[in-house]
Amino acid sequence: MQSEKIDQIKAEIAAANAGNPDELEAYRMRFISKKSVVGALFAEMRHIPNEQKKAYGQLVNEVKQLAEEKFQALIQQVDSGGREKEYQGVDLTLPPTTWPVGGIHPLTATRQRIVEIFERIGFNLSEGPEIEDDWHNFTALNFPENHPAREMQDTFFIEKNPDIALRTHTSSVQVRVMENEQPPIRTLSPGRVFRNEAISARAHCIFHQVEGLYVDENVSFANLKQTLYHFAKEMFGKNTQVRFRPSFFPFTEPSAEIDISCQLCGGKGCNICKGTGWVEIGGSGMVDPNVLENCGIDSEKYTGFAFGMGIERIAMLKYQINDLRLFTENDIRFLQQFRGLL
Ligand code: DAH
Repeated sequence: MQSEKIDQIKAEIAAANAGNPDELEAYRMRFISKKSVVGALFAEMRHIPNEQKKAYGQLVNEVKQLAEEKFQALIQQVDSGGREKEYQGVDLTLPPTTWPVGGIHPLTATRQRIVEIFERIGFNLSEGPEIEDDWHNFTALNFPENHPAREMQDTFFIEKNPDIALRTHTSSVQVRVMENEQPPIRTLSPGRVFRNEAISARAHCIFHQVEGLYVDENVSFANLKQTLYHFAKEMFGKNTQVRFRPSFFPFTEPSAEIDISCQLCGGKGCNICKGTGWVEIGGSGMVDPNVLENCGIDSEKYTGFAFGMGIERIAMLKYQINDLRLFTENDIRFLQQFRGLL
């Protein structure tokens, strides 16, 4: 009687199936839990005559083991069935989505390109401090005592000390290099500069310049022109025209502003170049003999040329950016346009 019942339960376990968590739970209730049919078989033990208890116990334990093995198998079945459903309709042969990667900031890319162009024609790199003294930023560069750049309106002074300021141009690095080295000198100094200006689309109180200096015997204005022609064509393309406009800087004589043909209209005249066909990229000139002497270089023996250009200005012309503030706002939509620049 009991063994018939046990055989029936065994057959039931063998035939059991579970296609989802609910069916799995129903199986657990029927064959595993305390109140299951297997539990009931254990409860029967009390009514079994003593001499049959051992054999009965063995049979029931077998059933219990069968029920548990089957339960584990059904768990596996439900699990993998679930995962298959989860991935239904997913094309596993597609390439994975990539993580978003950052890019080089357009100003960094522009600076690197400028450096690369000058390094190839023999310029090395030099640096100077952003907090400068009056000598390196002004006096050694031949600025007269009452020059407006020395006023608080134009320059950030540190703690009202008139001797220490944030450098207003990278020309201060020229002085440091010439004080420490004798010609031949061919050096390029990119860096940050600071001026007391209200921030607008066209002006900022922090921006970047790159300074160039070449001092040797027999350096002439022709060398300066040729060097900057080469730079403009490498930077902006071989059809770019360069023009030098007479100008004045305390530290160069003669001095010239450097213009290039407008990148937008190709020189025909548009609103970027204000109809002239030309845009300014920096200043230049022959190093004033006073400056050479201030730095301990014999101005009878050596001559030199220097130039200073705005890196923002060059980036704006190259990538047609019309607002200086975009460089520092870190708007991801702006920056993403320059991904893969280098
Ligand atoms: N320092 C000048 C400025 O910030 C730019 C400049 C002009 C640099 C002429 C030079 C130069 O080296 O020769 O406006």
